Amino acid sequence: MISLGMIGLGAVVRNIHLPAYSQLSGRVRVVAGCDPDPAARAYAREKGRLPAIFEDPREMLEKTRPDVVAVCTPPRFHRDHVLLALEHGCHVFCEKPLAEDLAQADDMIQAADGAARLVVINNQFPYMDIHLAAKKRLGSPEFGRLLYLHAWHTMRPTHATEAGWRGELSRRLCFEFGVHVFELVRFFLEMNPVRLVAHMPNPGGAGKGDLINAIALEFADGRGASMVCDGLSGGAGAVSGYAAGRRILCHSHVHRWTPPVRHRRSPCGSGVRSWTSHLSRVDARCWSTVFVRN
Ligand SMILES: NC(=O)c1ccc[n+]([C@@H]2O[C@H](COP(=O)([O-])OP(=O)(O)OC[C@H]3O[C@@H](n4cnc5c(N)ncnc54)[C@H](O)[C@@H]3O)[C@@H](O)[C@H]2O)c1
Repeated sequence: MISLGMIGLGAVVRNIHLPAYSQLSGRVRVVAGCDPDPAARAYAREKGRLPAIFEDPREMLEKTRPDVVAVCTPPRFHRDHVLLALEHGCHVFCEKPLAEDLAQADDMIQAADGAARLVVINNQFPYMDIHLAAKKRLGSPEFGRLLYLHAWHTMRPTHATEAGWRGELSRRLCFEFGVHVFELVRFFLEMNPVRLVAHMPNPGGAGKGDLINAIALEFADGRGASMVCDGLSGGAGAVSGYAAGRRILCHSHVHRWTPPVRHRRSPCGSGVRSWTSHLSRVDARCWSTVFVRN
């Protein structure tokens, strides 16, 4: 049985980590959590039923010595919490985005190598049923070789969603959520891009962050991808993969207050989406979208 401690006991722990660990109860035992916020600690104690709760991460690690530490704090703390966990001999399961910049990521890689421990990032989107189903068809005679991918992610930040640390981010869209989309691009194309060009304008919205990210990616074998992270309009998100004469589409609608309809919850998946997936011929229609602030 793997013992696990959590640094940070906020929304991602309540909505994703604790429900997922409860499905792995024969393999993972949550032994402790810590958070400086008394309300987060009270929730974890009463609803999460954590056996030990601390204010300070170092005290939690010294007293409980978990095998794995889940780092679930805002991104600006990830480097320090990952290094602290490695220093205590723990493997790390760190929430995305791993780091704020390359120097922080390099520090974590070096520390993980030195401690001979793993640091794994929670980029769970490739494990979702809809994306696994689409991936299975790529390269098949039915679909052919994936040549081009377009991913469109929409999210409309409001004053409520930006009330905490997210509202302080100057790079909000791709940094905080678009990392999931970027991970999907890597997953479907099975390689890292060799070049990318990003336009990330920040003309002022609910928070301090960027409002649209338009990103073009180029791959060493000549294939390409594009990503749009759209912070102006809520609604559906989509990933379209193109082969010659064919298009595969993963389409998601977010239903905020309804239970999942067709999407089976994956151990680290989110439960508030319903998914449909279909394969179609590329159609000749062009799409044009005009953005207005709403
Ligand atoms: N994988 C996903 O789908 C997913 C979904 C949501 C959030 N996240 C990520 O999870 C992380 C946390 O997001 P959230 O929505 O839970 O934020 P949150 O603000 O709800 O929770 C963060 C918690 O960390 C605590 N914290 C702050 N400083 C701390 C410290 N020094 N020691 C211990 N705890 C500390 C805060 O008090 C708060 O309770 C972010 O990196 C976010 O991007 C990932």
